[in-house]
Amino acid sequence: MRTTVGIIGGGPAGLLLARLLHRAGLDCVVLESRTREYVEHRQRAGMLEQGTVDALRAAGAADRLDTEGLVHHGIELRFDRERHHLDFPTLTGGRTVTIYAQTEIVKDLVELQLAEGPPLLFEAEALAVERPDSASPVVRFRHEGREQTLVCAWVVGCDGSHGIAREAFPAGAVRTYGHDHPYSWLGVLAQVPPSCAELIYARHERGFALHSMRSPLVSRLYLQVPNGTRGEDWPDDRIWDELAARFAIDGDWTLRRGPITAKAVTPMRSHVHEPMRHGRLLLAGDAAHVVPPTGAKGLNLAVSDVRILARAFTELHTTGSSRTLDRYSELSLQRVWQAIRFSYDMTRMLHAQPDGDAFDHRMQLARLRRITASRHAAAELAANYTGLPLPL
Ligand code: FAD
Ligand code: DHB
Repeated sequence: MRTTVGIIGGGPAGLLLARLLHRAGLDCVVLESRTREYVEHRQRAGMLEQGTVDALRAAGAADRLDTEGLVHHGIELRFDRERHHLDFPTLTGGRTVTIYAQTEIVKDLVELQLAEGPPLLFEAEALAVERPDSASPVVRFRHEGREQTLVCAWVVGCDGSHGIAREAFPAGAVRTYGHDHPYSWLGVLAQVPPSCAELIYARHERGFALHSMRSPLVSRLYLQVPNGTRGEDWPDDRIWDELAARFAIDGDWTLRRGPITAKAVTPMRSHVHEPMRHGRLLLAGDAAHVVPPTGAKGLNLAVSDVRILARAFTELHTTGSSRTLDRYSELSLQRVWQAIRFSYDMTRMLHAQPDGDAFDHRMQLARLRRITASRHAAAELAANYTGLPLPL
């Protein structure tokens, strides 16, 4: 098989890139190792920056997002049994965010791609990228019980944090910067209407908690837990009791409880692989960088990477210029490092540090007090949360 752009991975990055390239008249093939059912139901992100929503609209993939997405005008911070609201439009000159699950974005993009092309192969596991330095790199993959090859002009690794595309970078050509945080998140999906109108980020001595949602009838909640925690260690009642304790405020508020339908533990990591290109192999999304989810940046970064890439490939296709493609890694990394910094700061400010002392605790509270007391400090958080501009 031959194509212009071989895309490894049918997550949000790979699927959106394929859609954008297809609309720009470039042919591509997407190889996804899992089944359609699996990728459409893997519980992950939910908070979309305005730029992500705009990109999905421009790709003609936002019909359902526009009717079912929940537009949020801010978030609530809770600490010291107090609640503080940050109003994004006031702080950012009109920007908002939208709650729409990653599973739904994937369903929308898969449906469009299966209806309109380009080819999307499920249960097609990429095994290796060969000759990334040459004019026609090759992806070796396994599909329908046999090994096959995809000969490409370009290969884009959108294969997530455990993908194989990165392995084709020669050892001396890539550097990894990373930090593993000493805690994880236990995320649950609950069939109960959210107990809040907008997201709540709570800092508590017992640990961080986040109240998000998926629809007016479904809540999404997260708890900071020690690394190594297993979902089975947390029966539903224990989860609800712990959430209620961490969200507690002085004043009237109750957490609604309901049946928990999914439970998963995610480690908190900050990792960046530089550069994001070697020869004709490029990386996008979690394949190149992972952020702890506190800042809700992972999916949004995956989308901004592929927006830059789609622009670069379109420019090459229509004008023959590789100017943007040659700057892809540098351009994407500017935004990536800002998201790494923001996610790291949010994580450190809101989580109980297992090795922290009373001084660290006071520092966290001082940071939170500054944000709730200073419009300038709140505006800085709001600008990062709603999304920094694309460096194009
Ligand atoms: P992935 O979604 O990981 O997709 C990679 C795809 O490649 C997968 O489908 C995989 O099956 C496939 N693949 C892997 N290896 C191969 C191979 N060898 N051959 C073929 N296919 C392969 N981000 C936000 O922006 N906002 C949030 O609110 C948010 N919340 C989160 C909450 C949690 C609990 C978690 C875990 C993450 C959250 N994120 C959030 C991060 C976000 O989910 C990821 O950053 C996003 O999924 C990255 O998309 P991607 O397409 O780069 O990678
Ligand atoms: C969600 C996840 C996050 O990490 C976050 O910061 C906000 C929302 C979510 O899954 O809805």
